[in-house]
Amino acid sequence: MSNKKNVVIVGFGGMGHWHAGEIAGSDVVNLLGIYDIKQSVIDDAKKEGIYTYSSFEEVLADKRIDVILIATENDFHKPLAIEAMNHGHNVITEKPVTLSSEDLKEMIEASKRNNVLFTTHQNRRWDEDFLAVKQIYDEGTIGPIFNIESRVHGSRGIPGDWRGMKKHGGGMMLDWGVHLLDQIVNVLLPDRKILSIYATMDHVTNYEVDDGFRLTMMFEGDLRVYVEVGTSNFIDLPRWYVQGEDGTARSGWDISRGRITCCTNWEAKDAVPIRTAAGLTKTMAPRTDDTIKDVDYPQLEADVHDFYRNICATLDGKATQLVTHEQLAKVMKVMETAFESDRLGQVLPFEN
Ligand SMILES: NC(=O)c1ccc[n+]([C@@H]2O[C@H](COP(=O)([O-])OP(=O)(O)OC[C@H]3O[C@@H](n4cnc5c(N)ncnc54)[C@H](O)[C@@H]3O)[C@@H](O)[C@H]2O)c1
Repeated sequence: MSNKKNVVIVGFGGMGHWHAGEIAGSDVVNLLGIYDIKQSVIDDAKKEGIYTYSSFEEVLADKRIDVILIATENDFHKPLAIEAMNHGHNVITEKPVTLSSEDLKEMIEASKRNNVLFTTHQNRRWDEDFLAVKQIYDEGTIGPIFNIESRVHGSRGIPGDWRGMKKHGGGMMLDWGVHLLDQIVNVLLPDRKILSIYATMDHVTNYEVDDGFRLTMMFEGDLRVYVEVGTSNFIDLPRWYVQGEDGTARSGWDISRGRITCCTNWEAKDAVPIRTAAGLTKTMAPRTDDTIKDVDYPQLEADVHDFYRNICATLDGKATQLVTHEQLAKVMKVMETAFESDRLGQVLPFEN
């Protein structure tokens, strides 16, 4: 008999399949079966040799299940999760946990009322490009950091499926925004207060929901964090651009090509002016090699299976869940403040 915990996936589309692949290679969880509202999806899963449930009620009645993973369109996370929790099931939802703080409150109440685990799959906490920035921040590699820019750029507009529809919780803020904000506010800077938020939304390919956004958060201690998602960027900017008082770090998804350059001599200020366009500049003259040095970019490996390992250890009473209710609520509040900032065209204070 395997000691692995039994997972059932509800919603077996793109991400449901991703989970099935991860679970197949997991040391702690086992895929018991799947349920999807579409018969064609169920038929295809059967052909893949996966056990399928014929209704959500049948899933709810199965006592062998340790965790139900909900990977449907965003608007179905809440009703399915609450029903599952009311039947005594532990629940993981895909991100975003749901569409509003009010909805999230009801989900958290259902989890407390039924004494079951409830969390969300924030898998991008295990992105190596992000963890490298965290290492640079934590170790002070480039000195005290005053500016962090986190960007994801694509050029295909918003996908033509439910992601373009408001009623399903579409839009890039609820899609990529959730990941990027969770990284910053819950993992990189969990103890630093956000003072204010200013955001603007893009509507290049879609008027119903945002197909990109730009968001500036001012944190206490003079730290600015800029988060940007774009889907109309035919030339992209780096995934990360981080400035500290002693240097600058830049990387894409691929950290093997990341770069850190530090200043070794701030006193060397007598630059030779350079000619740019129709004028001269001394201020912007590039530094000579004797006043800067390149530092190795952190090379590290992360294992996203740690997400399921944490879930299982939590169910066994040996750990506490990594993605907490408070963290989910904080990101939801940041997103809601960002939408309000865009609507009003104003910088808004943030209550932590
Ligand atoms: N964590 C990540 O990196 C990541 C990446 C992609 C998507 N996601 C999230 O995963 C979720 C699913 O996204 P996707 O790209 O797989 O979408 P998708 O459209 O490919 O799949 C959704 C599936 O859910 C099914 N479904 C809808 N309503 C249902 C219901 N009531 N009961 C059962 N099944 C139902 C649909 O038939 C479909 O097969 C979304 O919440 C999305 O934000 C997360």
